[in-house]
Amino acid sequence: MELASAKAVITGGASGLGFATAERIISAGGHVVLLDINDELGEASASKLGERAAYLNTDVANEESVKASIGKANELMGGVTLAVNCAGIATAGRTLGREGPWPSEFFNKVIQVNLVGSYNVTKEAAAFMVNNEPTEDGERGVIISTASIAAFEGQIGQAAYSASKGGVVGMMLPIAREFAQFGIRVNTIAPGVFLTPMVAGMPEEVQESLGRQVPFPPRLGRPEEYADAVEFIYGTTMVNGETIRVDGAIRMQPK
Ligand SMILES: NC(=O)c1ccc[n+]([C@@H]2O[C@H](COP(=O)([O-])OP(=O)(O)OC[C@H]3O[C@@H](n4cnc5c(N)ncnc54)[C@H](O)[C@@H]3O)[C@@H](O)[C@H]2O)c1
Repeated sequence: MELASAKAVITGGASGLGFATAERIISAGGHVVLLDINDELGEASASKLGERAAYLNTDVANEESVKASIGKANELMGGVTLAVNCAGIATAGRTLGREGPWPSEFFNKVIQVNLVGSYNVTKEAAAFMVNNEPTEDGERGVIISTASIAAFEGQIGQAAYSASKGGVVGMMLPIAREFAQFGIRVNTIAPGVFLTPMVAGMPEEVQESLGRQVPFPPRLGRPEEYADAVEFIYGTTMVNGETIRVDGAIRMQPK
């Protein structure tokens, strides 16, 4: 399928990787609805994208909120053909730190947003995609979730984040197998370190050191390079049930 005719919902679409994906889809001629909890940025990002974009306040961890927003997005765009899960949080903490064991409440929050949130969007988007007219190849839609290389090489302090992203990788294949009957493909992108607000908040020397750890190219990823991967997956029907690392060959060390 081509981005020019995409009708996309993008969680976390107000910022970073999600926003770069929205920009790509809009410049190709498609439609997007940004689903985020940051209303100020969400509204500003949608208006930057122009009239084929909208913003809806959506907490991905809340099943009802996701259901309502995807229903509304379906109405606004006249269908949903692509769902991209970019909403995420990266709360970190040592499991047994100086202040004692890490509160499970924090662990649970990361799982709710990153993992349960991606599941909520996947199932609610699929419920609309099944109504799409199939392409010649029988295709009705594409779902792309965002894991992280921390799903495979989590660093100290990333127990919750790595567990949530490992869960995103793990649920993808059974869902891709289940949705095969509908012609809906399910894939995951595992980014390395990308220069988005999530990473820009780190001290500059940390960012530079992270960039130097990337074998090639020795720099942080650009959000457009994440959008390249979305475009490739959306346009390549044979890519299904796969996790694609986009990381310049970095393999993270323990810290
Ligand atoms: N930037 C990186 O280096 C990197 C690397 C690997 C994976 N990732 C993953 O990529 C995704 C996008 O990250 P980013 O770097 O663009 O971050 P970002 O902070 O720029 O964007 C994340 C967006 O998610 C939104 N969000 C947070 N909680 C939400 C919720 N409950 N419901 C809806 N929206 C919510 C935020 O408001 C924000 O707009 C995340 O899942 C992140 O874990 C990022």
